[in-house]
Amino acid sequence: MRRASDKLDPDKIQAGLKTNRIGKRVLVYESTTSTNDIASEYAKNRKNDGLVILAEQQTAGRGRAGLKWITGKADSILCSIILTEVTFSSDLLSLVSAVAVAKTLTKTTGRSAQIKWPNDILLDGKKAAGILLESKQYKISIFYILGIGINCHQKTKDFPHEIRRIATSIDLETTSTCNRILLIQELLSSLEQCLKTAASDSRKIIDQWQQHSILYHHRIKLVYNGQKFEGHCMGIDPQKGLILKLDFGGTRFFDAAHTSIIK
Ligand code: BTN
Repeated sequence: MRRASDKLDPDKIQAGLKTNRIGKRVLVYESTTSTNDIASEYAKNRKNDGLVILAEQQTAGRGRAGLKWITGKADSILCSIILTEVTFSSDLLSLVSAVAVAKTLTKTTGRSAQIKWPNDILLDGKKAAGILLESKQYKISIFYILGIGINCHQKTKDFPHEIRRIATSIDLETTSTCNRILLIQELLSSLEQCLKTAASDSRKIIDQWQQHSILYHHRIKLVYNGQKFEGHCMGIDPQKGLILKLDFGGTRFFDAAHTSIIK
């Protein structure tokens, strides 16, 4: 059992929240299948823009590429945020989410969190958070469910064997125990701020993404549609993906849906 003050409590979360849109309503589940599933149902009502679903535990948490997202009880932030009023592309929204989480982890830990494209957030080179952005259509409207998982209280032994060397938590990277209520408040504020910035000046978000990116200005190897490429990462284009100056000449874009970074 964790410290009582760390238990997710919607009233405590909202009491310290200075946002106007994100988190105007917060629901906390003790246990659910996936917070993204609950959020999908609520998102059918456009008025639920900004609603936040949190859970202490998921029984069918999911990650990108059909992978499972497995966590213990009360050791993480498991949250889904409903966005029904987005005025820019899903690709830019994906960058916004990564920047918002990276800024939150940087502020909370005092360490520079990095983005591993497309949407892994690293502390000291290890994955501390992941983002699953899903879009759905209901009648004539498109809405987004922004699912965010942040590892908070895990010890190394809590991670499955196969990811122990590449995963970390906030507690493992700092000398103190993270307070998940303060963390979620920071995350929601950071997201609201980044959404505003993206709506007024998308270039700023791209710059911030590049500042946090672990790949920017580095040599990388990737597989695109089964074919290997190597080159120097020149940045990101919100629509076309990663920009690579290829070793064998020319510059090319690689979209997230068809690309995996390799060692
Ligand atoms: C990834 O890195 O593969 C993305 C992980 C996203 C996990 C979060 S936890 C809250 C939300 N509910 C889910 O089922 N998944 C996301």
